Amino acid sequence: MITYFSRISKSKYVILIFIAVSFISLLTGEILHGYPLSKVKSAQWTNTRKAPYLIYNGNANQMEVHWQLTSTKTCTIEWGTDTSYSDGSANTAEYGSSHQHKYVIDNLTPGAKYYYKVIAGSDAHTGSFYSAPDTSATQLKFFAYGDTRSHPEDHDKVARGILSEINSNPDFQTLVLSVGDLVSDGEQEYYWDDEFFNESYSHINQMFAELPYQSARGNHEGNCILFNKYFPYPYVNFHYWSFDYGPAHFVVIDQYINYSTGSAQYNWIDNDLAASSKPWKFILLHEPGWTAGGHSNNQDVQNYIQPLCVKYHVPIVFGGHNHYYARADVNGVTHITTGGGGAPLYNPDPSYPNIVVTAKSHHYCKIVLDNNMLYFSAYNVGGTLIDTFSVERNPSGLISNNEVHPAEFYLKQNFPNPFNPQTSIEFSIPQNEFVTLKINDVLGREVATLVNSKQSQGKHSVQFNAGSAICGLPSGIYFYTLRAGGYIATKKMILMK
Ligand SMILES: [Fe+2]
Repeated sequence: MITYFSRISKSKYVILIFIAVSFISLLTGEILHGYPLSKVKSAQWTNTRKAPYLIYNGNANQMEVHWQLTSTKTCTIEWGTDTSYSDGSANTAEYGSSHQHKYVIDNLTPGAKYYYKVIAGSDAHTGSFYSAPDTSATQLKFFAYGDTRSHPEDHDKVARGILSEINSNPDFQTLVLSVGDLVSDGEQEYYWDDEFFNESYSHINQMFAELPYQSARGNHEGNCILFNKYFPYPYVNFHYWSFDYGPAHFVVIDQYINYSTGSAQYNWIDNDLAASSKPWKFILLHEPGWTAGGHSNNQDVQNYIQPLCVKYHVPIVFGGHNHYYARADVNGVTHITTGGGGAPLYNPDPSYPNIVVTAKSHHYCKIVLDNNMLYFSAYNVGGTLIDTFSVERNPSGLISNNEVHPAEFYLKQNFPNPFNPQTSIEFSIPQNEFVTLKINDVLGREVATLVNSKQSQGKHSVQFNAGSAICGLPSGIYFYTLRAGGYIATKKMILMK
């Protein structure tokens, strides 16, 4: 009898431990990653695990619609040029081992708006897209962003900003480039479900339903098995690929396999860029060659990709990895760090080599191609312009940056530094703002206020004389902090008498 009861107790004990561990792991997910636990599914998501999302496979007459269910179901997809969805319909059966569905809508008229509806049992999802522009098109608009991992609630704000652009100008309903790091751990299905394709984030889901998602692979995609499962682009060797879209050619690089001179990927990139006759060529990757601190500059991009960009007149290399916005200009090639798609923000350092502009904000980039001109702008989730510039392409294909308008918040390192007793501090604000610029010692005590008033848009330079501060200041480390609008930046300086 005693043995019997102790056996029962052990079983209960094991069950209790299992329940406790499950609860703690769920709670830890919420605490560590800052997103809410999955909500109870709505009626629309009864059978849906991933709502329909779009992929452009490089064929201008096609659009791919992908979705995933929680169980085996035959689905129907209908599409057309209006919401009567009368151009066609098809049944789809699942493929693979986890109830994935895919349908390639074909024979599309270039540059036309299409609506589609996916019916999966009691679930019905709708979306729309524009087919790719005609191959002879000379104009194009598109978006770029990246590093969406870990904080889908911030990713959702970025998606909301992108959707608002489409709302105000339907010409922007084309495609969105992503520089990778889509989820915290791309090797775990959990993160794809809860961070990326979570029903709770309506703007993200709407963006996926309305813009083909064209992504590079980041380090957080891990072994890329699940990344390739959910984003099955027509890869070369399972890793890299390129596609045309109107007047643009996009080369998507995988930095987690070899791309040094003579490697298979390098040779492919070289041949691919050489073979493209498109007037505008872009490179999409994850780790930028020139960026503003945090993760260091990627030397392989500097050594192998940059020379190809110069050779083939690539105006912009899109990267991320560092969670902020930064622009670097290197021999006519602009390296954009657009890692503010939702991941925790880093502090960019504008004093890094070749850096022109930085901004610590969740943001997205808008690119407009108009014949021989490229117009670039980046916006934070509040709708504030954080950078803009243009590139001109002359008839021989050479590119030149011009009309550079830094239009952002930044706080530069003081100069000289160390200093005695005088130094200057430069900052920039994109619009008229109330600004404070204060100096504190290492104990946090305020020792000087250099600015405490409304300032006009643009660059400002302020002199600080440590000899004129109260009683003069002793040698040591000091910190200066700029506050303007929602922006705060602090830098260190050294007074050496
Ligand atoms: Fe990364």
